[in-house]
Amino acid sequence: MNTPVLSARNVHKHFLAGHGETIQAVNDVSLDVVENEFICIVGPSGCGKSTFLRMAAGLESLSQGEILYRNQPVRAPRREIGMVFQEYSLLPWRTVRDNVSLGPEIAGRSRAERDAVAREYLALVNLGDFASAMPHELSGGMRQRVAIARALANKPDVLLMDEPFGALDAHTRILLQRELLRIREHHKTTIVFVTHGVDEAVYLADRVVVMTPRPGRIRTVLPVDIPRPRDRADPAYARLTAAILDMLDTETAAPATAKEEESCPSQASM
Ligand SMILES: Nc1ncnc2c1ncn2[C@@H]1O[C@H](COP(=O)(O)OP(=O)(O)OP(=O)(O)O)[C@@H](O)[C@H]1O
Ligand SMILES: [Mg+2]
Repeated sequence: MNTPVLSARNVHKHFLAGHGETIQAVNDVSLDVVENEFICIVGPSGCGKSTFLRMAAGLESLSQGEILYRNQPVRAPRREIGMVFQEYSLLPWRTVRDNVSLGPEIAGRSRAERDAVAREYLALVNLGDFASAMPHELSGGMRQRVAIARALANKPDVLLMDEPFGALDAHTRILLQRELLRIREHHKTTIVFVTHGVDEAVYLADRVVVMTPRPGRIRTVLPVDIPRPRDRADPAYARLTAAILDMLDTETAAPATAKEEESCPSQASM
């Protein structure tokens, strides 16, 4: 058995909201992610996916349990763990080029090296002509592609991606899905990828983690045993996609238990 690269053990997270309410966002999540594995997490809106990713990135404390990166507790952000956020997170005062080369700059690389890295990764996301642009001059989807290039430019060992392709048009999305698989093969990156696209999850993942509505628990973990490169026309592909959608439907339709109602008084519809 491979040693996990990332290991979540009985992770809980609650937030104290207004009026002293406790919002339980993540409930007893345990998951081992092994070397070079591609994990996709799907689940209803508000079920704690982003919260889980932020904890794995060392950006959020845990209420209970632990998250280990190669057997060491994750307590703060670290270079080996990259993150692409759900909302665009570029530094508005830096050019596109200088956003992408931020990691190499922090690592003390020369200007020439930084520029070469920026060129390579901007070409990868098809933004080679925008190196000198400022973030506000880009569309939302373009900004997200810069954020992806910036995360990849650090050559992280583990890449946590929170709905990274959500704002992209269908064509770019499919191109970037392919690119991401190629990059992961080349750099042996381990990826945890949150998406609302069940089709996307089945295309990308080695295993799909299906979460329940808040407080998010893992409902099931499904291996995707469809050979790569995957063909969306493969009947096995359609079957698995339908089965996951069905699970999400059932979960969303299920009424909260009395205990959940109590701990989540403000639970919104999914
Ligand atoms: N800083 C915070 N303070 C209080 N509550 C929070 C905080 N961050 C998240 N929450 C709550 O935790 C729950 C889970 O939020 P989270 O953003 O992790 O959901 P999500 O699964 O990523 O949803 P989506 O699919 O819409 O992005 C939500 O009820 C949210 O309101
Ligand atoms: Mg989210």
